[in-house]
Amino acid sequence: MTKEEAKNRITLLVEQLNQYSYEYYSLSMPTISDYEFDQLLKELETLEKEFPEFIQSDSPTLRVGGAISKEFATVVHRYPMLSLSNTYSEGEIADFDARIRKVVGDSVEYVCELKFDGLSIGLIYENGVLKQAVTRGDGVQGDDVSNNVRTIKTIPLRLQPEAPEYFEIRGEVIMTISGFRTLNNEREEIGESPFANPRNAASGTLKMQDPGVVAQRPLDCFLYQIPAPLPEIDTHFESLQFAKKLGLKISEDAAICHNLKEIIEFINHWDVHRENLDYETDGIVIKVNSLLQQKQLGFTAKSPRWAIAYKFQAEQVETPLLSIDFQVGRTGAITPVANLKPVQLAGTVVKRASLHNADIIQHLDVRIGDTVYVEKGGEIIPKIVGVNIDKRPPEAMPVKFIGYCPECGTVLIKNEGEAAHFCPNEDHCPPQIKGKLEHFISRKAMNIDSLGEGKIDMLWESDLISNPADLYDLSYNQLLGLSKVIPADGDKPEKKISFREKTAENIIKGVSKSKDTPFQKVLFALGIRFVGETVAKKLAAHFQNINNLQKATFDELIVVEDIGERIADSVLTWFARAEHLDLINRLKTHGLQFEMEIKTDFLSDKLTGKTFVVSGVFSRYSRDEIKQLIEKHGGKNLGSISSQTHYLIAGEKMGPAKKAKAEKSGVPIISEDQFEDMIS
Ligand code: IVH
Repeated sequence: MTKEEAKNRITLLVEQLNQYSYEYYSLSMPTISDYEFDQLLKELETLEKEFPEFIQSDSPTLRVGGAISKEFATVVHRYPMLSLSNTYSEGEIADFDARIRKVVGDSVEYVCELKFDGLSIGLIYENGVLKQAVTRGDGVQGDDVSNNVRTIKTIPLRLQPEAPEYFEIRGEVIMTISGFRTLNNEREEIGESPFANPRNAASGTLKMQDPGVVAQRPLDCFLYQIPAPLPEIDTHFESLQFAKKLGLKISEDAAICHNLKEIIEFINHWDVHRENLDYETDGIVIKVNSLLQQKQLGFTAKSPRWAIAYKFQAEQVETPLLSIDFQVGRTGAITPVANLKPVQLAGTVVKRASLHNADIIQHLDVRIGDTVYVEKGGEIIPKIVGVNIDKRPPEAMPVKFIGYCPECGTVLIKNEGEAAHFCPNEDHCPPQIKGKLEHFISRKAMNIDSLGEGKIDMLWESDLISNPADLYDLSYNQLLGLSKVIPADGDKPEKKISFREKTAENIIKGVSKSKDTPFQKVLFALGIRFVGETVAKKLAAHFQNINNLQKATFDELIVVEDIGERIADSVLTWFARAEHLDLINRLKTHGLQFEMEIKTDFLSDKLTGKTFVVSGVFSRYSRDEIKQLIEKHGGKNLGSISSQTHYLIAGEKMGPAKKAKAEKSGVPIISEDQFEDMIS
């Protein structure tokens, strides 16, 4: 492909892919299949690799993450990014309405919107292309997080053709609740502390330096404000519709309200129905609809006079704290959990609430016997927010955080800078052993789906397994007939479950099949603290095999992309334990993959024993593609022509020296077509 052809093809692909994204994300009307989309995207990726000079700033390949930034550039906002004043009662909204009417008269309309709980962002489009995405910062200047924002699929990289030359819009980057839960599970699995709520998760993610990691996080964005006036648009509501037409995601739940009564109805409706949304809202925003009236009303130093936020009241109840349990998680983290006198809260009966860690217990000064305030506001898990001191019984004693693991008796440790206490007995503490086994078999690790939490429990309780290598020693006869009695629970009677032939067979098969799992997944499956899926991939790619990784020094570890001191320390500590080396040896003996596989998807052996040199420019394939085809058909690529070369595949513009050398060495020169014939 010539440069000119590549450039044209890239332009066309970018345009088409952006249009398909618009149809998918904005119109919810996809016109091609996901498979076709991925094929075109792959084609674009390949072309961009070969012709990096033609990469466009609105290329959808940037969605998977661009360059790593050490620091974000500071950008001064063209229009200051203000905040809103908050209200908490109907009375305060009535006051707001009265203030507005005093200035603009009685013909006023409001737009009520959800108040999204994330972090605000300003998007700047020039000639329809996303140029910059800037955080609020201090309102005057913020951080340029464009590379991270480009990974959010619902943010168009190119707007529809009606876009003005310069267009700025503001909105909120959020994380979905479902995505937040999955992310936190994954974090807990590798010993990372979970995010407190989706807002923290969204804001932590947007400030990460590697857009590649950001691309894997479930971020979304709602846009809600255009700071500069647009020609022929008179109301805020119309400006939202215009943004929608450009392909931007706006909330479908905004509504025009004509008076206080309608505003209150909107609030009451969403106070109940926000429970059903997959994102968090902490209130309602009420805005004057007419842009002319907005102008008349103007701004205070901090916020517009034409808008106000109403914050939902978090539902709160009082109930006695009966006792505190200390739970040991799969990574050894100790979580104090409060047992409460059961109480009705926001539609469910609450019996337990997490107290998170020792610092929070101390901060709240909760004592056993206290009557505590429990809230389930925007938060997902009910939390204790305070103590009703008036009801404190004289005998209530401060809570003493435990010093020993409640499961195995080991002395707990608390690392500097971390809030949680840990049980360091990772290889012998029962919940940690079981947790490690569950992690080992999980989908993203060894993916042994014939086993699950329940079966792991049974095998562990029957003393058949205490570490992952034991799984590979299991025999059919050991499994057959293995049984467990599940005690009666409420209405459910006592139940006995036992493994039959099929179950035993499936377990053995599943365990055996897992031996083909690639090295990076095996590495992740080992459950080394802080070595999540991405880190495992990077370590595997860098060190190629477990022996190299095991030998790596601190300095060698930290040069790997994304590996910081904390991860390096954790890897070194893990490999320093004889039990872990023994585990690896046993797993190796069982045939698990501890080396990166050389990736060649085998297509045929038509070229086995043949060697090739590829030179020049081709019309149907890139040079790399031809080289890949050679390997996939069993052939070998050579760097230069010698008497060992069987063929020279020559494209256009091949250097004359190569041609001469081939002729001199008697190496047959073949064309792209002839090569195709050889493999067809
Ligand atoms: S309008 C000049 N609309 O709430 C006013 N803000 O407490 C611009 N927010 O900084 C803001 N949802 O980050 C507006 N529908 C919505 C909103 C919203 C969430 C955030 C925004 C703002 C903060 C104010």
